[in-house]
This record gives sequence, C-alpha cells and structure tokens, in this order.
Amino acid sequence: MLILSVESTCDETAVAITENGRRVLTDQIFSQADLHAVYGGVVPEIASRSHVEVISRLADHALESAGVTRPELDAVAVSYAPGLIGAVLVGVNFAKSAAWSLGIPVIPVHHIRGHIAANYIAYPELTPPFLCLAISGGNTMLVHVRDYTDMVVLGRTRDDAAGECFDKSARVLGLPYPGGAPIDRLAREGRDDAYDLPRPYVGENPYDMSFSGLKTAVINIAHHAAQTGENIDRAGLAASLCRAVSDALVPRTMAAAAELGLKKIAVAGGVAANSRIRADFQRAAEKAGAELFIPPLRLCGDNAAMIGCQGYYEFLAGHTADWSLNAYANMAL
Ligand code: KG4
Repeated sequence: MLILSVESTCDETAVAITENGRRVLTDQIFSQADLHAVYGGVVPEIASRSHVEVISRLADHALESAGVTRPELDAVAVSYAPGLIGAVLVGVNFAKSAAWSLGIPVIPVHHIRGHIAANYIAYPELTPPFLCLAISGGNTMLVHVRDYTDMVVLGRTRDDAAGECFDKSARVLGLPYPGGAPIDRLAREGRDDAYDLPRPYVGENPYDMSFSGLKTAVINIAHHAAQTGENIDRAGLAASLCRAVSDALVPRTMAAAAELGLKKIAVAGGVAANSRIRADFQRAAEKAGAELFIPPLRLCGDNAAMIGCQGYYEFLAGHTADWSLNAYANMAL
C-alpha cells in the first residue's frame, strides 16, 4: 500500500511516500528554521504562509524522487493535530484536495502518534506493546503504546514542553533558534554540576512533569548576570540544564516501565536528539535489562515519513476521514 503523507504542524513542511508503513520511498523536508531564527521562535503567520508556498512543489518533488505516479497512490495521510492551527490547516487542506482529486482515502494522523511511529521505521523489529517517551518542541508525554492505535497517556508536562525549555534557555544564552541542538553542543564543553538547577516535583501523578520552573531558573541566572555584570559559565549552565531535563525524564520513564512490566522503551520527538538524554537512557536501560529504541536524528524531528507509517496502521484500523476533516490545535492522543 503506497501512502503519500503530509506534515505541516509547526515549522517543517514535509511530504513522504511510504510503502506498507515502514518502507520509506522518499522523505522530503523543507525546514523554515531560517525564516523564524531572526525572531527567536516560530511566528505562526510566517509558518502558515511558507507552508502554502512550498507544499505542492514538495509533493511533486516527492513523487518524482520516489518514481511514483499519482494513480499508483492508495491513500493520503496527514498530521491533523496538535499544532499551530494555521500551519496544520495548510497540510489538511492539501491532503484532502490531493485525496479527493485522486479518488483515494484521507487518513488523519495525530502528530505525536507519528513521532512514536518514527521508531517503527528505524527499528523494523519493534512491535507494541512498549513504553514511549515523546519529547518535542510543543509536547512532552509518557505513553503506554498497547497496540498500534491503542495508547494510554501515563503522564505529561503540566506546563512547558522540554523543547520549549531548551529553546527559551538558549535564547538567553545568546544561542540561535531552535536552541536545543546548540545547547547540546555547548553542554559538551561544560560541567553538569556548575549550576544547581531545580528538579520540579509535580503533585499526585508521579509521571507528570514540569519544565517552566527550570526554564525560569535559567532565564533568572542569565538576567541576574547581565544586571550585575557577572560572567556566566555558559557551557556549565548548558550542561547543568541538559542534566536537569534528563533527570526529569529518564527516571520517570524507567519507573513507569518497571511498574507496567515493560521491557521495551522507546523515545521520540526532536528532544530525543539530545546526547545527554540519549546517553542517560542507554545507561538506565542497560541497568534495567530493557531494550531501548531511539530513532536516528533525522527521524527525531518533524518529518512526514513517520506520518505515513502511523497512517498505515490507522488505515488498517479503519481510521479514515470524510471531506469534513478539520485541523485542530489540540487533540487528545
Ligand atoms: O519534534 P520537533 O522537531 O518539533 C515538534 O514537534 O515540536 O522538536 C523540535 C524541538 C525543538 O524544541 C528543538 O530545540 C529540540 O526539539 N531539539 C533538541 C535537540 N535537537 C532538537 N533539544 C535538545 N537537544 C537536541 N540535540
């Protein structure tokens, strides 16, 4: 089954063609990061406009590079929530138009389900059930993947996503947007005990998380230093931040896996590219005798191959949409 898939929930326009879920024939990504860098964050209106300009040409390019013709396509999958509403709308309308004109079904895919599915592409042997920590720029959740389309959210951030914490901390450290990767690089030169950053405790659900206090702590350190003329140890602060974020994520994930008796642990989303988090997971999984799945960097960030992969399983479960399909800024998993 050949699926053309579309992703436009934030600042990447992406189109892929996948075969039977896990085989990627082409995976085209146009990143808008340069357009937003000057503002230090994603500007929703600019994101929507850029998606409109790029999406058709990117789809043509995807067909060409996969050597697939339009009549050979069986369905169109689209990331329809959650995300920046204007941005998501572009992808949903493009997908509906393409599917309607070709007389094939349109499959709505939850963006975070897509991130989780990136692991199926990276690890052909991976099958549910498993535990997945999904960490991206806008979402942070711990998910029990009981089956391909049957998932239970065990915990989530109460406020900011882990990626937001990296991006806003990077800004006060004078690093470019998106700040996660530059912080990761800077952290390699610093000591992770240079600053004593908070480890937020989140009320009654042990699997919920919080990152706004950590973000504020980093911003306060930077502002205080700017006002008093003190030098900050930028590499030390970056390393301490990576450690604090990792401390909020890794032990919770391992505790949930132990409680559920799950020996397969997956990590997904842009923040899964972080080297400290990857290393800490590696160590923790080895200690627990669990198998660890983390996609390669290209599949961690937003892409359309993951949407096509999850779309295949949604299709098998009968989850197609009619032409009234809409885009949503928020949506339960
Ligand atoms: O999954 P993604 O591409 O987009 C969303 O769906 O949000 O994630 C983007 C996020 C950004 O916050 C970015 O700073 C972060 O992933 N990120 C990283 C790293 N690479 C990207 N965060 C920490 N360390 C990295 N190496």
